[in-house]
Amino acid sequence: MKYITWSARETSNLGRELAARLKGGEVVCLYGNLGSGKTTFISGVVNYFRPKTRVLSPTFIIVRHYRFDKAPVKNLFHADLYRLDNKSSIKSLGLVEYWSDPHSVFLMEWADKMAGQLPEKRIDISFRITGRDRREIIYGKTDK
Ligand SMILES: Nc1ncnc2c1ncn2[C@@H]1O[C@H](COP(=O)(O)OP(=O)(O)O)[C@@H](O)[C@H]1O
Ligand SMILES: [Mg+2]
Repeated sequence: MKYITWSARETSNLGRELAARLKGGEVVCLYGNLGSGKTTFISGVVNYFRPKTRVLSPTFIIVRHYRFDKAPVKNLFHADLYRLDNKSSIKSLGLVEYWSDPHSVFLMEWADKMAGQLPEKRIDISFRITGRDRREIIYGKTDK
């Protein structure tokens, strides 16, 4: 499935649409260059569960945890692997433990840094900059 968005708002709305379908236990892997809209999309997901939440890329702390009262998703983990460059440091984060919980959703930017260690059952979303405000968002991983 391929979408074109023409503003950050449209991209975050796509995130909301995904959020509405989440039941807990999902691992969502986001791929794409800096500025392609990954964090914007995730802010849509978070704001579906908890409106008016400011979402920043967890670049330095690696994983951010949001807790919601609203069932069925109780926790959302937002990871950004951008700054990680060796496989063992990624492994030592123990991310795998986060994504075994059926009440949690795990979203990961730069998931390609963990290629080979990702769960087989996951949602892949690729982001591409195709104009100043235009982004191509593809469900299912592409090679680009
Ligand atoms: N269609 C669009 N979708 C998402 N972001 C857009 C779009 N058009 C412009 N932007 C801008 O591009 C930037 C995307 O940043 P961000 O979501 O942090 O990207 P990433 O997390 O992939 O590095 C933001 O400054 C946003 O306002
Ligand atoms: Mg980001």
